[in-house]
Amino acid sequence: EHCFSKKADGFLYCEDVKVQDVMETVEKRPFYLYSKPQITRNVVAYKQALEGLNSIIGYAIKANNNYKILEHLRKLGCGAVLVSGNELRLALRAGFDPTKCIFNGNGKLLEDLVLAAQEGVFVNVDSEFDLENIVVASRIAGKKVNVLLRINPDVDPQVHPYVATGNKNSKFGIRNEKLQWFLDAVKAHPNELKLVGAHCHLGSTITKVDIFRDAAVLMVNYIDKIRAQGFEVDYLNIGGGLGIDYYHTGAVLPKPRNLIDTVRELVLSRNLNLIIEPGRSLIANTCCLVNHVTGVKTNGTKNFIVIDGSMAELIRPSLYDAYQHIELVSPAPQDAEISKFDVVGPVCESADFLGKERELPTPDRGAGLVVHDAGAYCMSMASTYNLKMRPPEYWVEEDGSVSKIRHGETFEDNMRFFEGL
Ligand code: LLP
Repeated sequence: EHCFSKKADGFLYCEDVKVQDVMETVEKRPFYLYSKPQITRNVVAYKQALEGLNSIIGYAIKANNNYKILEHLRKLGCGAVLVSGNELRLALRAGFDPTKCIFNGNGKLLEDLVLAAQEGVFVNVDSEFDLENIVVASRIAGKKVNVLLRINPDVDPQVHPYVATGNKNSKFGIRNEKLQWFLDAVKAHPNELKLVGAHCHLGSTITKVDIFRDAAVLMVNYIDKIRAQGFEVDYLNIGGGLGIDYYHTGAVLPKPRNLIDTVRELVLSRNLNLIIEPGRSLIANTCCLVNHVTGVKTNGTKNFIVIDGSMAELIRPSLYDAYQHIELVSPAPQDAEISKFDVVGPVCESADFLGKERELPTPDRGAGLVVHDAGAYCMSMASTYNLKMRPPEYWVEEDGSVSKIRHGETFEDNMRFFEGL
């Protein structure tokens, strides 16, 4: 069951709300539309999968940092995974329990590490210099820091190279050859560092759970080695990365339950607490970017549907050649001809496309056109290129009401940066 679906009348619905009706009541510009109940269902799927294990669901805030969504995820019991000082500040502001927060990243700044140390969040050690900074941060904050070693297990996630992170030449984490150096460094700083676990993150959009299993086997071996040196490490953090069905082909992709089941026995055999860091699989499928058709044109052999949304609102197709499913929100006439269209925005770049060669009926001007699975890495990666200004966000609530959860940026917002200059 999915929150966005076409019903018998041929219209697209978000839960029981017709997307066309929402379009008629909100500002006429591209907007993100979420299903709040779908967010809940996604979290519940993870919680049920994790039953019987001690665990933390660390939601990866980078996927979507809408404050209202964060509050909702926090109320559902999630922790948070942070990659910048501002994400850490936002998580604290949204009320996340610091002991369920993990500060991650290959370039964490000293001042942000100080905040992390003060607040008592877990910190992943990424490199030699990172360890040195964490030691300094601990001294400044006057607090011992719970650290995990981010080990780079060199398991191929079989994904686009831009979203692969755990291979041996990656900029993230530490290589196992260096493990002993890090263990010695932790031992040398007993007042500043407490080693509590090991972390890995292989990449994103992974669609085979065996990949997680392979990594977990390696990680548990590292944990055995670490424990053999007298460290009491209790946490295995297997990162995020579970993919979703962007293609809408109905192919059966692994669910949270399959992911957790593939590592369950390993985790139990070593009496570990499991941390997972899902972003995409919690939030991507809860949202569509809703656009308006500006017009249709043909050049050479190509047909184009030009919409008001663009790579500024949603950059994944341009950046990763990512596929996100595209649909019109209202039914086409019975006799409508289906053609292949590139769906493009108004931005001055040929890379400005949302979809290529999509079979669609020729839409009327003003028709609604959605880009699916836009909850993760879409709004959070939006820009103001061409002064498009970032779109408003709405969600459909449990009772079917629609509310705004973020204002759209305006031209005046842009001018505010120049006030007083
Ligand atoms: N943990 C760490 C350490 C990460 O680097 C990431 C994502 C996650 C967790 C969450 O991964 P997820 O469950 O969402 O796959 N902008 C790209 C994705 C970049 C992912 C970066 N790291 C995209 O739009 O596909």
